Amino acid sequence: MIKTETRERIATIELARPDKKNALTAAMYAAMTDTLAAAESDQGVRAIVIQGTRDCFTAGNDLKDFLEGPAGASQALRFVSALSKVGKPVVAAVGGPAVGIGTTLLLHCDLVYAAPGARFQLPFVPLGLVPEAASSLLLPRVAGYQRAAAWLLLGQAFTAAEALAAGIVTEIVPEETLLERARAAAAALAALPPESVRLTKQLMRRPVAAEVSEQMAEEARLFSERLGSAEAKEAMAAFIEKRKPDFSRF
Ligand code: COA
Repeated sequence: MIKTETRERIATIELARPDKKNALTAAMYAAMTDTLAAAESDQGVRAIVIQGTRDCFTAGNDLKDFLEGPAGASQALRFVSALSKVGKPVVAAVGGPAVGIGTTLLLHCDLVYAAPGARFQLPFVPLGLVPEAASSLLLPRVAGYQRAAAWLLLGQAFTAAEALAAGIVTEIVPEETLLERARAAAAALAALPPESVRLTKQLMRRPVAAEVSEQMAEEARLFSERLGSAEAKEAMAAFIEKRKPDFSRF
């Protein structure tokens, strides 16, 4: 479900649950958090890569997990919180769908490579939830309020070209070379003076670090409240039952 590998000073986290479009379970978040901690403390690791397959990054949180209780959400929070604090540079490779946390986690990566067919979506509101991973703070800042409103309020999907224009993707690369490009960027980072890389990342992240933690905590509080709401239950049951949700009674 999560494959990890450390080779040539690069730690790779691969989302590998293809039958469910790499939807993330509590166990997968826990494995990713452990890998981040291990990479951070391993002196031999200089860069981290997060990737799915060439044609699917992740369908986001496992919706069945959400219906079963708050365990998935709390592991997700532990993961994004760890990701937002990791000192080593993180490179992401996004091909195909990047839904929910699949998009929000990118706001905490340092370099993001996307295939032309990457498709981003933040359907928190349509699911009866609220945004997470400090995306309600970072996305309006990075992309501008109006774009963020279309993506976070409406839950409108967007393309790799739109993500590039909005500043949440570094570069669009052909699907066939996506993973290689991300790895080459990680290798370039790994060859640089590590302390200089670490300090520069820290300097770039520092001005928003406190706000990011505070916003994540507030989002998490509301998110766990919303998970138990009738609106969210209807939205997720509709997805699993493959029907349209009906919010007219709320
Ligand atoms: N949680 C649980 N299962 C999921 C899932 C998720 N987030 N996303 C996809 N799956 C499952 C589907 O139920 C389906 O399972 P089945 O084969 O047992 O029926 C399988 O993965 C394939 O998904 P499918 O929807 O048929 O693939 P697709 O290529 O048509 O569409 C997506 C891919 C990602 C666009 C679509 O699956 C989707 O929108 N998923 C939900 C995303 C979401 O709302 N995530 C939560 C964000 S907070």
